[in-house]
Amino acid sequence: MLFIYLTFLYFSIYLFGTATAADAHRQGQHRRLSRNHILRTREEIVRSSNHPPAVYRTFGKGTTSPLKKRGTLEQAATAFIESELGLSSDGYRVRASASTTTGGNVWVQRVVNGVPVINAVANVGLNTDKDIIAFGANFDPSAYSTSPPDSPPTQPAISDTAAINAAAAKMAGTYSGLPVKLEYYVQEDGSLTLAYVVVVISTILDEEGEDMHVYETFVDALDPTGRVLGANDFSSGAVYRAVPPRLRDISQQGTTLIVDPVDTYSSPNGWHSANDTSGNNAIVYLNQDITRTAKPSADGLVFDYPYNLTSRPSDGLNPEAAKTAAFYLSNLIHDINYRYGFTEATFNFQQDNFGKGGIGGDRIRVSVQDASAKNNARFTTFPEESGGSGALMQLFVWTRSMPSRDSAVANDIVAHEQTHGTTSRMTGGGTVRCLQTTEANGSFAISHSISLTPDRFGWSDAYANWMEQSDGNVKDYVFGAWVNNSPGGLRSYPYSTDPGVNPLKYSSLNYRTAPHDLGEVWANMLHNVYAERMSFSSS
Ligand SMILES: *[C@@H]1O[C@H](CO)[C@@H](O)[C@H](O)[C@H]1NC(C)=O
Ligand SMILES: *[C@@H]1O[C@H](CO)[C@@H](O)[C@H](O)[C@H]1NC(C)=O
Ligand SMILES: *[C@@H]1O[C@H](CO)[C@@H](O)[C@H](O)[C@H]1NC(C)=O
Repeated sequence: MLFIYLTFLYFSIYLFGTATAADAHRQGQHRRLSRNHILRTREEIVRSSNHPPAVYRTFGKGTTSPLKKRGTLEQAATAFIESELGLSSDGYRVRASASTTTGGNVWVQRVVNGVPVINAVANVGLNTDKDIIAFGANFDPSAYSTSPPDSPPTQPAISDTAAINAAAAKMAGTYSGLPVKLEYYVQEDGSLTLAYVVVVISTILDEEGEDMHVYETFVDALDPTGRVLGANDFSSGAVYRAVPPRLRDISQQGTTLIVDPVDTYSSPNGWHSANDTSGNNAIVYLNQDITRTAKPSADGLVFDYPYNLTSRPSDGLNPEAAKTAAFYLSNLIHDINYRYGFTEATFNFQQDNFGKGGIGGDRIRVSVQDASAKNNARFTTFPEESGGSGALMQLFVWTRSMPSRDSAVANDIVAHEQTHGTTSRMTGGGTVRCLQTTEANGSFAISHSISLTPDRFGWSDAYANWMEQSDGNVKDYVFGAWVNNSPGGLRSYPYSTDPGVNPLKYSSLNYRTAPHDLGEVWANMLHNVYAERMSFSSS
């Protein structure tokens, strides 16, 4: 999954100087030509990047991995990769693995001399018996698999500053501020050269509007002139200004630009089905009017709307910013949950299920600044069979501060709400009947909200909590502090491993019987289990 957080605002590059009114027409043509020329040059560099041919094989019901019986998922996959490609264990490293209800996937990165090779990755799909069912790789073993013909240098001949300058000049942009890395670039003949990886942001603003691209640029680290070897255009996908997922809400760090976050494993056709905030996983619109989606702010799928925290949620561009943030987070949660097994076959929310099981037609509808209530948020889940109904997330404005606060830019609230949908669908096989307390008008739909029916919020608070934890040092978690304008948030205690901070444990149920209290006990238990697990895996 590719996440790029650009905390630096991009610069606008004004490519053309002043011009006289008399030249207006001619200048118009000149602008178009120059703009097109620059775009063409950069597209050629992007196209010239070497993408080694991919191999893809499937094995029907599965082929036995050498380590299947005694190994873990990762061991079974890497044993297969080593035997299939003739690699030793220092020839690759595991980038990620995920087990699912149908088995799992393991992704590896090719390394040489401990240096990653750009674009050289492989993935293995396994069934529940840890047999290999699919294998894909785009590194050509004949070129540099076992022993590279000439061991490529590991030390650069130019400085990273020189590489940054070369990349910015060639791609007509400015350095993003993202860390510069040294990796191996695969040349046409299959040989490896050491390259600096520099991310450059380039915006052309002229009378035709704004055109923004984010280029991952590869600069020859051995060439004194800083030759650009190739580039990837990250913004061929989409750009969102949103609250990064590790942050609880917009008050912590505002919004940042997030470039091309889609996980194509989870969302093979991307997040958008039109040039607005509608797609296969969610449609996000303003106050119950499904036609009022957010439209791009620039050419392509660029949703770069600033949020002004000193004005009201309904003022200026705030509604567009709020819809963008909710669209981003809802889709991100879809993609993350998919990796963990909330897929078509396990009754997830998607318009098109791509023939992978389940019933489609049930993306999540997200109504931002929904005026039907306030100081709350609500998620209504319909059963998978209900077709066309899916789920409805209503994000209300909170009026406990001046100006009031929009729960669409509070990741804790959005993550909490969407988890009501996940848990309702994943228990009981998509019927939505298991975690149910009320059957709403015979439709078997369940409505859950932050404070009106909080008895089932344990899982939802836990998911919002996990999303924010970034390492093994699990921190205390306060839910809903910003929307509620109260440091203690919406629960009795912060979730904590310290019984002095949160005294709730299972035995508390002997004296706490209100449904509201049960959810807090469950969420605090989950917090403690998570902290224990994290400290175990990081030690
Ligand atoms: C968005 O608009 C562009 C240009 O009009 C078009 O080529 C593209 O297919 C549209 N994208 C989607 C997802 O509809
Ligand atoms: C933000 O909103 C406040 C209050 O409406 C206004 O005074 C200010 O100019 C706005 N800031 C920007 C950058 O638009
Ligand atoms: C349920 O149906 C009744 C009667 O039709 C209606 O008044 C009520 O608003 C409905 N409730 C919900 C949650 O849809």
